[in-house]
Amino acid sequence: MQVAIIGIVNHDTIRMAGGEELQDLGGILYNAAVLANLMDVADTIHPISRIGQDCYDWLARLLAPYPNVDLSGIALAWEGTSRNTIRYDAALEKVERLINRLAPISFSQIEPFLDSDALLINFIVGNDIDRYTMQTLRARAHGLVYLDVHNLCLGIDADGYRFHRTPEHWETWMGLADVVQMNEIETRLLAGRDMTGEDDFIDFGRRIVDLGPSVCIATRGRLGAITVYRTHEDGTEALVCPPEPVERVVDTTGCGDAFAAGFLAEYLISHDPVRATRLANWTAAFNCTLAGLSEVGRFREAKNRRAEISFTD
Ligand SMILES: Nc1ncnc2c1ncn2[C@@H]1O[C@H](COP(=O)(O)OP(=O)(O)OP(=O)(O)O)[C@@H](O)[C@H]1O
Ligand SMILES: [Mg+2]
Repeated sequence: MQVAIIGIVNHDTIRMAGGEELQDLGGILYNAAVLANLMDVADTIHPISRIGQDCYDWLARLLAPYPNVDLSGIALAWEGTSRNTIRYDAALEKVERLINRLAPISFSQIEPFLDSDALLINFIVGNDIDRYTMQTLRARAHGLVYLDVHNLCLGIDADGYRFHRTPEHWETWMGLADVVQMNEIETRLLAGRDMTGEDDFIDFGRRIVDLGPSVCIATRGRLGAITVYRTHEDGTEALVCPPEPVERVVDTTGCGDAFAAGFLAEYLISHDPVRATRLANWTAAFNCTLAGLSEVGRFREAKNRRAEISFTD
């Protein structure tokens, strides 16, 4: 199995409420590391990204533990590395500022990977790929196109500060994917209204499926996930997936990335959106118990538990 993951790798500077500062690489790195652990050693994960020379060795070191990750899709960006600062204001709301903005990943950089069984597009900076590239990719990709809406819903002001927005042409973007994933805020922004209960998510999921995708997933943090999917008879079904119980939440960063990795790991084998949602939900919940990238290796230890999950009713 071959999976390409398209999106920017950010250099994040995180200022904690107490004043301490953390430097880390983020973006699609987390998708790649979780997927590398969930998939077989014989499978290959191809991150497709742009990064500056200044951070390339760091990125290579972080992915070195995974022989099933191929770095040939990572291009050196002449603009340097995409840099993002994250701090929390008095109300503990995240304030993000993008300092160094990169040009989008071009179609020619993606072209060698069009034979992959799946292409996962995860918007990190918001213009990771442009609409023309997405349209060309859709027309020429052989495998599943999975879109994690994520920061497509974040605009950037003149000073680099990020703000929630409904992306332009969002219906076109959705219509170009087979599977779409969005969190609660993203769902609200796309729907253009408050989402109050499960029925709202199911109705909106149906609207997305009508645009072309066969699966639409709304992730709801500690409330679990709701998946609407097209049936063989061309109708739609919905699965309301309650959260997996988590004894102690350590860090919820990257839960959406872990969810996408879990979904793909199962869906590429069974093509069953119900089983894939269950595995994704378990993967994301397990991720809450880990303290970031250094602990993602624990997904391997949990392999047996994982095998049981997707079959459970
Ligand atoms: N406290 C929790 N307990 C159990 N599962 C959780 C919890 N928080 C998150 N999850 C799981 O993680 C999934 C994704 O979470 P969420 O909706 O917050 O994604 P996201 O906002 O895209 O995350 P990210 O910060 O990675 O972008 C949820 O659907 C759920 O399966
Ligand atoms: Mg997300």
